[in-house]
Amino acid sequence: MTVRARLSHDTASVALGGKAVARALREAGVEIVPVGSRGLFWLEPFVEVRTASGWQAFGPVAATDVAGILEAVRNAAPHALSLGRIEDHPFLKAQTRLTFARCGTVDPASLQDYETEGGLAGLKHAIEIGPKAIRDEILASGLRGRGGAGFPAGIKWNGAADAPGDVKYLVCNADEGDSGTYADRMLMEGDPFLLIEGMAIAAVATGATKGYIYIRSEYPIAIAAMRRAIAVARDKGLLGASVLGSAFAFDLEVRVGAGSYVCGEETALLESIEGRRGQVRAKPPLPVHSGLFGKPTVIHNVLTFAAAPTILTKGAGFYRDLGLGRSRGTMPIQLAGDIKHGGLFETPFGITLGELVNDIGGGTASGRPIRAVQVGGPLGAYFPPALFDTPFDYEAFTAKGGLIGHGGVVVFNDTVDMAHQARFAMEFCAVESCGKCTPCRIGSVRGMETIDKILKEPANAAQMALLRDLCDTMKSGSLCALGGFVPYPVLSAIDHFPEDFVAR
Ligand SMILES: Cc1cc2nc3c(=O)[nH]c(=O)nc-3n(C[C@H](O)[C@H](O)[C@H](O)COP(=O)(O)O)c2cc1C
Ligand code: SF4
Repeated sequence: MTVRARLSHDTASVALGGKAVARALREAGVEIVPVGSRGLFWLEPFVEVRTASGWQAFGPVAATDVAGILEAVRNAAPHALSLGRIEDHPFLKAQTRLTFARCGTVDPASLQDYETEGGLAGLKHAIEIGPKAIRDEILASGLRGRGGAGFPAGIKWNGAADAPGDVKYLVCNADEGDSGTYADRMLMEGDPFLLIEGMAIAAVATGATKGYIYIRSEYPIAIAAMRRAIAVARDKGLLGASVLGSAFAFDLEVRVGAGSYVCGEETALLESIEGRRGQVRAKPPLPVHSGLFGKPTVIHNVLTFAAAPTILTKGAGFYRDLGLGRSRGTMPIQLAGDIKHGGLFETPFGITLGELVNDIGGGTASGRPIRAVQVGGPLGAYFPPALFDTPFDYEAFTAKGGLIGHGGVVVFNDTVDMAHQARFAMEFCAVESCGKCTPCRIGSVRGMETIDKILKEPANAAQMALLRDLCDTMKSGSLCALGGFVPYPVLSAIDHFPEDFVAR
């Protein structure tokens, strides 16, 4: 009988030798079921073999391990890389997977797999209840944008639906430029139909007939997976003139990003799709009133659109019951940096930073003590262990001088130089600035120079005061959050690690 094995085709698996494992499996006569990643990256390349007692997991697998694994499976014998049933692994068991429920179990090219595993139920329900009731559900669920700002999705949807316009657009922001983040990529590579379904629900709700998915050029596997899934969806009537046989029309197109961090800012992204240089637009007008090609446009992160099918399937109350304060539902948190168990951890808001990095992440991979954790990408604050009781919640992070952003958590051990990290934040801003406003374009360069002086001159109180002053100006005077949020990493480094800001 042919042996079947699930092998992740996710970028993480490929980067760690997944293609060689695939070759070895094929040469051994194994039928490969291509899937996305389960998100336990320290176990990639990760293989699940079908046995009489269900799927048995192994990882991390090298091509040279394949023969031994198949032998062990044949003889029902133990194997050093055996992980048993992966659903019983503590890293997965502790999660509440809604958005990532199917990732790693279905063939991302198969709409049939998607539907068999509960897909399309949300869209079917959405078509039944109609635009206004869909928007009410999204608003009542408490869903907030997962791209960074945490703005209520339902308000955006209402804004676009109410805006006058013969044509309306959806734009999915898959630029995912934050350090330590990969959830958008993992979802597009592992469960692309979920994003398509989420966008189709938003289209029905707002009256949009065309959507663009803007994917960063560094994600070739995700670009291919999304293009393939869109073609299948069109072929099977999920997209096109009559979505699932309804009166609603909606189609999707993938656009490849232009390789700059600021192209993830929503108005720069619109400029980029329109064929111009990615430069930030002044607001107002808001994109829901005048966005892509001057038409009402809803822009969301991948994870925001991908949350809609769950809300429409299980109801706003189910989603709203999860979470903390005004942060409702689940957040796919991405653990990275010097961490033992790096990977995707989807959980209701409310888990503390300490639980995430110590209990779930297992501390550092190096075995050294943790000194700082940066949350929310390159513009996020650094948290010392003294703040590890902070719950994952938009307002709680703001209260501690930080932000959640897109849910990236990057761990640094005790060898990190925090003055260097502060300088890096200014340098990053200088390199990535779109150049439109002075506080960001010039301020970031002056910030680098000031930190250089602080590290050279013994009595640096005046330069420290200047740096804080500069951060104030950038915070209040920048046109967008690139220049406006750089003070988060800089000031948190100064406030929590002042001992590093000395001449050496
Ligand atoms: C410099 C900069 C970069 C950004 N990069 C991204 C990004 O890569 N992905 C993303 O979803 N949002 C990014 N954002 C936020 C977007 O401007 C926008 O708020 C978001 O796409 C809205 O989606 P949401 O409602 O799902 O949060 C960025 C913002 C700034 C200022
Ligand atoms: S803050 Fe920076 S990136 Fe944003 S508009 Fe100003 S110059 Fe451009």
